[in-house]
Amino acid sequence: MHTNPEERLIRPARNVYGSLRLPGDKSISHRYGMLAAFADGVSRFTNFSTGADCASTLACMEALGAKVNKIGDGAIGDGVIEITGIAGRVIPTSHALDCGNSGSTMRMISGLLAPQQGTFTLIGDASLSRRPMERIRKPLEAMGAKLTLTEGHAPLTIHGSVLRPIDYTTPVPSAQVKTCVLLAGLQAAGTTTVREALRTRDHSELALRAFGATLTRNLDSVSITGPQSLHAIEAAVPGDISSAAFFLCAATLFPGSSLVLDSLGLNPTRATLLDVLTVLGARINVLNLEEKNAELVGTVQISAPPEGLGSAEVSGVLAAQLIDELPVLAAIAPYTSGGIRIRDARELRVKESDRIALVVRNLRAMGAEVEEFEDGLDVPGGQTLHGATIDSGGDHRIAMAFSVAALRAEGDTLIQGAESAAISFPEFFDLLDQVAER
Ligand code: S3P
Repeated sequence: MHTNPEERLIRPARNVYGSLRLPGDKSISHRYGMLAAFADGVSRFTNFSTGADCASTLACMEALGAKVNKIGDGAIGDGVIEITGIAGRVIPTSHALDCGNSGSTMRMISGLLAPQQGTFTLIGDASLSRRPMERIRKPLEAMGAKLTLTEGHAPLTIHGSVLRPIDYTTPVPSAQVKTCVLLAGLQAAGTTTVREALRTRDHSELALRAFGATLTRNLDSVSITGPQSLHAIEAAVPGDISSAAFFLCAATLFPGSSLVLDSLGLNPTRATLLDVLTVLGARINVLNLEEKNAELVGTVQISAPPEGLGSAEVSGVLAAQLIDELPVLAAIAPYTSGGIRIRDARELRVKESDRIALVVRNLRAMGAEVEEFEDGLDVPGGQTLHGATIDSGGDHRIAMAFSVAALRAEGDTLIQGAESAAISFPEFFDLLDQVAER
């Protein structure tokens, strides 16, 4: 029983079994919501993300003049979100735009607003107000905007103006920064190019095209020639593979498990987890692959290897592409035979929490041996964990990652700050109860 919504007791499981459909991808929903609100016409989406982060994006866009209408709700996939766009011109607002816990909202919307007339203030919760925003100030100011930050963080104020295009190489791999520059470039006369050393998720490139924009893509760069206008679309948002990650990892822990996830987003820049789980020995089938608005969607069947999980190393481009899945991978690592080694993941320290520090602390609380590095961690395999009290630090992915680790622990685990799961995945605990056999 859970009486306090902020705490959740997770009992060990015997197996993970069943089939699930997951709510819409958070990254894609942010982009569809933002672009639809900016476009001309009425867009309609099914399976839009149910997370609080995407609600923050929609609320900001409503404050800037878009209309958002939710028709029906209830089960995942039901209900339609209808967004009437502002045809490229935001309505100035004197109110601060509240981005909540969402770095994607704050960084991407800044690119949309920098070329607009007016002054806009963006705020966020305590976690978001600690996250680095210098990374968007630099390119936007190079384009001619003016941003005032608070010691490198939010609250931030954007003094919009007519922007010039730039050719920009992102100093750290970040799809949010890439998107920020592309959204500014969409509205600046001339060709804006964003180059990245490690290829990050490309949902913005695909979504901009779906909304009618023209982009040129190379392996390590993308260019957009502005100004261009966007037009409304209708789309079904693919299931969120970063949410699926918790269930996929859970299923790898129990010989005899079987899980089917349908209508799952399988964009190659996001599906790296399937490769790593395959290396670890998981049995994975992908069926019914199709393309929806250039996003790959399919059904994933997974079961655990009877002989148990092996070992894996995640570094370089893998670390960049798996950044959101690393906490749960690290959380199941003690249950592998050979352990998991993670490097080149320094960015984890500036997510909703310092995810390296929290993963290390919580693994240790469960009795695991783990070595911390500035840019990652080593978790030896062959360990037995015991139930413990987990400090999620109010970070949704930490709360969910340790709920998965708890399934194979000896004894019960108490997840503190469990309500944070609602940032990306409000249905998480209910769905976990559905597939975790006790
Ligand atoms: C996201 C990009 C990543 C990721 C975040 C969502 C996106 O952040 O961690 O959860 O939707 O573009 P960075 O761009 O900061 O790496």
